Amino acid sequence: MFRFRSAPLTLLLTCSWIIAVSGVSQHASAVELYEGDPFILLPCDFPADELNQTSVVWSRYDLNPSTVHQRQQEGDELKDQHHLYSGRTSMKTDALETGDLSLNLTKLHLSDSGSYTCTIRWFRRGLNKERRVTDIQLQVKERFPSWAKALLVLLVLLAVGLLVSGALYLHFRPYFMSVPIYQVEVDSGVESVQLTCKTTVKLPENAKVEWRDRDNRKVHVYQNGSDQPEEQHRYYGGRTEMKRILLKTGDLSLTLKYLTDWDSKTYTCTVYNKEKHILMKKQVELEVKDCQVEVEEGVESVQLPFKTAPDLPEDAKVKWRDKDDMKVHVYTNKSDQPEEQHQNYKDRTEMKKDLLKTGDLSLTLKYPKETDTGRYWCGVINKDVLRGKTVKLKVKGQYEDTEQRSVSLSVIGCLSLVGCLSLVSCLSVVGGLCSVCVFLTYP
Ligand SMILES: *[C@@H]1O[C@H](CO)[C@@H](O)[C@H](O)[C@H]1NC(C)=O
Ligand SMILES: *[C@@H]1O[C@H](CO)[C@@H](O)[C@H](O)[C@H]1NC(C)=O
Repeated sequence: MFRFRSAPLTLLLTCSWIIAVSGVSQHASAVELYEGDPFILLPCDFPADELNQTSVVWSRYDLNPSTVHQRQQEGDELKDQHHLYSGRTSMKTDALETGDLSLNLTKLHLSDSGSYTCTIRWFRRGLNKERRVTDIQLQVKERFPSWAKALLVLLVLLAVGLLVSGALYLHFRPYFMSVPIYQVEVDSGVESVQLTCKTTVKLPENAKVEWRDRDNRKVHVYQNGSDQPEEQHRYYGGRTEMKRILLKTGDLSLTLKYLTDWDSKTYTCTVYNKEKHILMKKQVELEVKDCQVEVEEGVESVQLPFKTAPDLPEDAKVKWRDKDDMKVHVYTNKSDQPEEQHQNYKDRTEMKKDLLKTGDLSLTLKYPKETDTGRYWCGVINKDVLRGKTVKLKVKGQYEDTEQRSVSLSVIGCLSLVGCLSLVSCLSVVGGLCSVCVFLTYP
């Protein structure tokens, strides 16, 4: 029974991964299984030639310790493994050579439900670096009394999971390491990132916590038991969050929302006591990847996405410019200013209504041409810069997209294969049930 289910399962996982790779946001997929199933292979692939001197960690960040399995150049390193997984995990012996970093988890328990993250780590130029390769949401359920029902539900859930997996994002929760500089890399388009800053030292109740960016602007200030938004620089207004009772827990991590490439900086977390002496200081380097949009020439329009925190000041100016610094679209005094834009973009651009209020600064560019390819950037300014983002647009000519086509073809091929397999399994279950009925009725 399990084999029957596990074949389409592995395929589904592979498919969702392909989709995730061709999309922009983080790879995430969901799997459901039943208690007592003999094993599950959680897939994770990485180009083998980039796996030099790296180690791989499978983690569940809701556990402490969070390590599910760790593989280093020398072999498995299981001394930090959570006891729940003891003796139940394995990876291919040549995982680091082949890039197939899949995790084989055996004898599934209900408590195995959770989010599994496959991360590669390496050490370069004095820095510990890491990169999240994939996230898989595993749910282990109690067995249904009827196998047929369970199978159908599973297939439906997996199909839904496949459809939404491209759109899924997972909250980025970086793993804490005790080095002063810690690097986080995320895709543009993820909802938020957590800049980790934790301490085990007991902090006094009147301690002040300050996050600042590279330019010494205040990103977030916490003092006297509460956030101090009036001290924060407006660039970060409405975009930050810290945990509750943070001085008690020692978790001073900062969540930064509505990320753009302009947020790629080093951030410093400093804790002061009442006498303004520094009790602790940590740095996190954030890199948000460029936002890339690709369309084919001939489409009606393309959107350059930019969503930021709502309620921007009413006197703010919004300007989209292109690679040659030409004005693509200008919005001031609550309305578009078509007379300011470059003639190349005349009657070809559109922005949303009420954009300062909603924070949706996306630009629609109509009838994109191959020559529109290039970098676009949007700045929101009143006295100083309030928000900014770069979007890389690629408009493909109509006859030179073989690469793109082969990716989408393989996805379509994969999808139809999965569809066929699910159909075949459904039919055989229904067939099986029918013959049982017939058998029982006419013995
Ligand atoms: C792997 O890394 C080591 C040192 O970190 C370097 O000497 C070696 O050239 C690298 N090999 C490849 C194939 O990149
Ligand atoms: C996972 O491990 C179990 C137990 O060692 C083994 O029977 C099974 O074949 C493995 N699965 C895969 C896909 O390697």
